[in-house]
Amino acid sequence: MANLKINFAGIQAPNPFWLASGPPTNSGYQIMKAFDQGWGGAVWKTLGVPVVNVSSRYGAINHRGNRVVGFNNIELITDRRLCDNLREMEEVKKYFPDHAVIASLMVQTKKEWQQIVQDVQNAGADGIELNFGCPHGMCERGMGSAVGQEPEVLELITSWVMEVAKIPVIVKLTPNISDITEPAQAARRAGANAISLINTIQSLVGVDIDKFVTYPIVENHSSNGGYCGPAVKPIALNMVKNCAQHPLVQIPISGIGGIENWRDAVEFLLLGASSVQVCTAVMHYGFGIIRDMTAGLEQYMDSHGFETIDQFVGKALPNVKHWEDLNLKYSIKASINEEKCIGCQLCYIACEDGAHQAIDLNDDKNNRIPKINEENCVGCNLCSLICPVEDCITMVRKDDGNEHLTWRQRTEANDVPTTFDDALAGGNSHTVPTPLEALKR
Ligand SMILES: Cc1cc2nc3c(=O)[nH]c(=O)nc-3n(C[C@H](O)[C@H](O)[C@H](O)COP(=O)(O)O)c2cc1C
Repeated sequence: MANLKINFAGIQAPNPFWLASGPPTNSGYQIMKAFDQGWGGAVWKTLGVPVVNVSSRYGAINHRGNRVVGFNNIELITDRRLCDNLREMEEVKKYFPDHAVIASLMVQTKKEWQQIVQDVQNAGADGIELNFGCPHGMCERGMGSAVGQEPEVLELITSWVMEVAKIPVIVKLTPNISDITEPAQAARRAGANAISLINTIQSLVGVDIDKFVTYPIVENHSSNGGYCGPAVKPIALNMVKNCAQHPLVQIPISGIGGIENWRDAVEFLLLGASSVQVCTAVMHYGFGIIRDMTAGLEQYMDSHGFETIDQFVGKALPNVKHWEDLNLKYSIKASINEEKCIGCQLCYIACEDGAHQAIDLNDDKNNRIPKINEENCVGCNLCSLICPVEDCITMVRKDDGNEHLTWRQRTEANDVPTTFDDALAGGNSHTVPTPLEALKR
C-alpha cells in the first residue's frame, strides 16, 4: 500500500500536496479547514509589512465552458497584521502538529529579514519560504522578482536568513528570467535547503477594447499582473526539469504551476519535484479537490509498485534529452480509424494548409473520410491533436525499429551542414557552433 508521507528538506508532511502561498492560505481558519480535508501542508500567504490591496484584482482566460485556463492577478502580499497571522500560525500548529506550515516571507532590510524569520520560528512554523518571485507591485519596491532576477542579491538575502534560521529554508523562484538555474544555483550557494518554482509570470491578460484599458480594471486603469493556472504548467515543468538536471542545484524542489489534479502532480514529481503546491485550482474548485488528488496518487503508486514518493521522484529525467540526441531514424505515420471517423475533415484542412499536405480527400464526394498520404506524412502529430474524436487518428511506427542515428552523430560524421554558407555550398562543417560562434562566422 502506497505511503504518501514525505520528508521535504527536513519538513515532514502526511502527503506531498501543499497549498501555495496565496488567497487560500490567507488565514488560520482556511489552513485548518484545508488540513482537515486532507492537504498535507500550506505555505502561508506572504507575510511582511502589510499592504493595501486594490479592487478588482483578478483577470482570467476561460475555455471549455467557464473553466479557467489562465489566471492573472495584481494582488500583493498579505494585507493582514503580522501579529494576527503569527497568533493564528501558533494555533494551527497546536491543532495540526503533523502538518507542514511554511511561512512565506518578503521584507527588505537585513534587520527586517532576520527579525521576521525569528518571529515565524517562535510561532512554530516548520519551514520558511522566501518570496523572491512576485512580479507585480512588490518588485517595483525592490522586492519579490526584483530579487529573484538578480542571483547575487538573492544569494545575499538568503545568506542573511540562513544566519538566523533554525528551520528549513525554501527559496521561491521567479520564472521571469531567461535561465532559472542561475538563481537556483545562487540559492544553493547561500545554503538554502530547497527551492520552489514557479511563482507567477508577468502578464497582461487582455484589453477591454471599448474602454481601452487592460484587465483587471481598477477604476479606469490597470497594471501588469502575474499569470498562473493550467496555462503555465508547461513552463513550470520545463523549469523544474532544468533545475533538477543541473549538477550545481541538487537540492529538493517544490513544484508549482497549474497543478489541478493528481496527474499534474505526478508529472512534477517525475521531473524532480518532491512536493507540489497548488493555488489557482483551489481558488477555482475549493479545498475538496484534495480527496481525488490523494486517492489518485495512491492508486497510481500501487499500480506501479511504488511504496514511497521518493521511489519515483525524477524518474522521467533521464528520458529528457538534448534535441541533438534524439533518433532521426524513428518514424511514425498517421493512421485514420475509418470506423471512428465522423468525416469532419478538420484533419484535412489542418494538414493541407498548416502542415505537409499528407491528407487527401476521397475521390468519391459521398465519402467524407480522408486518406493518409504516407509519402508526404512526416509524423508531426498535428492531425491527431486536432481530431475531435478520441483515438480516431493514431500515430503508427513505420521504421524498422533498429537503426539509430542522431543529429549529433551526423554532425560528428561531418554529414550535415551546420552553417548557412555550408548549406548554400552543399558542404559540411565539423562542429556545432555556440550562438556567439555562429554569429562570428
Ligand atoms: C491571487 C494570487 C495571489 C498570490 N499571492 C502570492 C503570495 O502572496 N506569495 C507567493 O509566494 N505567491 C503568491 N501567488 C503565487 C502562487 O503561490 C503560485 O506560485 C502561482 O499562482 C502558480 O501556481 P498555480 O498555477 O497553482 O496558481 C499568488 C497567486 C495568486 C493567483
